[in-house]
This record gives sequence, C-alpha cells and structure tokens, in this order.
Amino acid sequence: MPLTLQRPDLLLSSHYIDGHWCEAVGGSRYDIEDPAREQAFASVPDADARDAQAAVDAAHAALPAWRALPARDRSRILARWNTLLLEHRQDLGRLISREQGKPLAEAVGEVLYAASYVEWFAAEAVRAYGEVIPAPVDGRRMTAVREPVGVVAAITPWNFPAAMIARKIAPALAAGCTLVAKPAEDTPLTALALVALAEEAGVPAGVLNLVTASRANAAAVVDVWLRDMRVRKLTFTGSTPVGQHLARESATTLKKLSLELGGNAPFLVFEDADLDAAADGLMAAKFRNAGQTCVCPNRILVHEAVHDAFVERLVARVSALRVGPASDPQAQLGPLINRRAVEKVERHVRDAVAKGARIMAGGSPLPALGANFFQPTVLVDVDGRMELSCEETFGPVAAVSRFADEAQAVAEANATPYGLAAYFYTRDVRRIARLSAALEAGMIGINEGAISSEAAPFGGIKASGYGREGSRHGLDEYMHSKYLCQGELGPGQD
Ligand code: SIN
Repeated sequence: MPLTLQRPDLLLSSHYIDGHWCEAVGGSRYDIEDPAREQAFASVPDADARDAQAAVDAAHAALPAWRALPARDRSRILARWNTLLLEHRQDLGRLISREQGKPLAEAVGEVLYAASYVEWFAAEAVRAYGEVIPAPVDGRRMTAVREPVGVVAAITPWNFPAAMIARKIAPALAAGCTLVAKPAEDTPLTALALVALAEEAGVPAGVLNLVTASRANAAAVVDVWLRDMRVRKLTFTGSTPVGQHLARESATTLKKLSLELGGNAPFLVFEDADLDAAADGLMAAKFRNAGQTCVCPNRILVHEAVHDAFVERLVARVSALRVGPASDPQAQLGPLINRRAVEKVERHVRDAVAKGARIMAGGSPLPALGANFFQPTVLVDVDGRMELSCEETFGPVAAVSRFADEAQAVAEANATPYGLAAYFYTRDVRRIARLSAALEAGMIGINEGAISSEAAPFGGIKASGYGREGSRHGLDEYMHSKYLCQGELGPGQD
C-alpha cells in the first residue's frame, strides 16, 4: 500500500550530515519494513564509522557559532520547529504508523507529545540562569554560569520514533549544544522527517546531524562517538544491557551520560481503590503502544479482597480492544515491532502458564492479521518465579497477581533491580504518603496511569538508569556549571 503524504518530500531516503542530505560513504543502504505486513516500503543509507566521523566533525565545527547564538534566537528556531511539527502532524503520524505500527490516532498523539518537548525547551532556552554566590571573603566576586556541554550523541529507540528523539534534540539545541544522532534501525524515517523540519525551521548546517545505520552497522557508528573526546555527552533510551555497555565504553572519554533504560513497573491496586478508575488507568498505561513502553506496568498486584472484581473489569476492557494494522481506522492496538518481539511475548506467556498462571483473555498470536500481531492478554495467578515478573515483556500482556497486605505489596513491587515507573491506586491519604516514599522508582502514578509529560522529570533509578528528560531538569543534562572567581576587587566589593 503506498504511503501517501501531503508533503511527499517528508519521506526521505538520505541521511543528514553537515547540512547535506547524502548517501553513506560506503554507498550501502538497508530496507525499512512495515511491521504490520513485514514488507519493505523504503530504504535509507547504512552508515559506517566514516559517516559517524563526518557527523562528529560537522557537529564540532558548528559548535562555536551555535553556542554563541543568543538564547533568544535558539529559542525562536525551536519555536518554529514546534510549529512545523504541529502543522505536519498527520504526515508525521503516517510515517510513525507505517514504520512502527501504532494506529494513526495514537501516532498523531505521539507527534503532539514530541512537539510538547520542543515547545517546552524553546521556552527553557532563555532561562538557563547562572547564580551569584555571596563571597565568603572581601574583595571577590563569585558567580557560576551554565554552559552547553558541547557535542552530544543521541541514540534513540523504535517505540516512540518522534517523541524520544525530540526530547533529546530539543534540550540539547536549547542549551547551545550541537548533535550527532542515530535513530533506531527499524524506525529512521520519522527522525529524518523531524530533521528536515528542523532544517526548515532554521537549524544551521552541522548543528544537527543524523545518521541511519542497520543493526549490523549500529555498533560501528556508536563506537566512533564513544571514543571521540569531542563528544562530551551521550544520551540514550533503550535496554539496560546496552546502557551498561555505553556507560562502560564512554568511561575512557568521561562523557556526561543520560540513560533511560528498562523498567519493570509494578501497578498496585488496594482494597479501597476505585476499581473502575484503576482498570481505566491500567488500560491507558499497559496497552499504550501495544505494551511497548518502558513505563508500562509489567506486574499488576491486586489486593486479594478486590482481585476478582478488578480482574473482571480488566478482562471486559481488554476483550473489547480492537487489534489491527494502522490502516484500520478502528484499530486500538497495532502489531509488535518484529518477530523477535512476538517470540518474547509468546515465551513469557508459555513460561507463565507452565508455572501455573491462567489465561483470562487473549494469550495467542493473531496470524490472520500478520506475524507480528498478538492478542491483548490477561494472565492471573502470576508469581515472582515467572519470566514475565523478572523481565519487561514489552507487549500487550497484563500479568496479575494477588497480595494480602501493604507490606507484601511494597516488598514485591520493589523486588526488582529496575526502578523506572510505579503506579498505585488507593483512596487512603496516609497510604499515599507511605507508598510515595517506599516505592523505589523515578516516577510514580498515584491514582493515575498516564504520567508522561514534558513538564515533568522523566527518568529512573537503580538499573533503569539516570538523568532526567523534560521539565526544568531536562536542560541541565546538556549543560555544565562554570564557576567564576574574580579577585582584587578591593574592600567592600562583591
Ligand atoms: C519510553 O517508553 O521509553 C518512553 C515512554 C514515555 O515517554 O511515556
């Protein structure tokens, strides 16, 4: 099926280095597949180390002029980029749907989410204040200014092809940094379109460079950036093992790091919760992007007194979900990204059932729709021995277990190396205070399933990484502080 865009030029087939849309130096290309049909519908350059090097050279050369540009001017460019993203939301949504699989309405929603970060950091660009420090001795003036860290390398995942890269590029540009970026190999087209719109908004040549690379070449590209001392910051969203590798390998050049890594979010429903609100919150959190988000509830823990009533509500909602390709306007859940993703979900369900879990809804692939579709699924009698309790399933499986009291719920919720998001539903204000302190996660939804916002600090603790995206803290990740101590000012001067 042809991909029809109002602006056909937003379907790009080159990558972008130093203001040029170009082929990879080696001339290789690789295909991009539609996960719904598993058919190639586009191709992009397959970069190697030489392209990665050219991108850093360009970003390094562009840095002095970009960081010297008044913050007001950088802010205006970002504001124009935001306007263009909003103007072309339908086309960008179509690109996301085609390469990533999510339904069009959800994909357009992702564009709005991406744009919200650009709008936010357009405003933050002009608020990178320093500080005046009361001098402890006479005759000195002590201040601290904030400076851009320099060239940033951004490596982004496939699950949100627009939002994840926007929330790295926007603060970096706002801070006065230049970038080299590599989108996920499965979903580079949205990122390329975003860059084309950034160019149209006035981002100068060399400031933002984006190279596309296949799974086979990704490491060669990233290795160049890891080794290059001129790259002063690495920002990555993806799995914990890859994040650990990047942290290790960037140690020799001591880069500043932001790592938004895997999660294993608990979702607790207490006996005093509003069960309909909890079921609605779980649907929003769990089935967004067919369960392929780092903040998805992975373990649903329900108090034994309300377990059956909650599961009944959940099963009714899950059974009513419509699965289909993005071309189906009624579809609420698309395909998973590829066969490996489906195999993992199948393995988790098989393992859970073999260890005593029961399937209350779904449980199987949907080959009639295509090899990457899986039924939205509810499992009960899940326990901590099962693979899906220990690892992110990253698919449309709601895995439910019971607890007897609050202490058990908190202990089980925290019994994971991960600490990205956690959720709980209760109407007891004291319990809200206790759990807000006790749960080990960077983000907590309290009677709320949709927690993501450009205005809030997004990020984890423990094996879910470090660094925050969005909010006023998002800009700090791309800046360092420089202390200025001026002496010889004479008595009474500071
Ligand atoms: C993620 O899955 O990594 C990001 C989800 C979000 O921003 O809400």
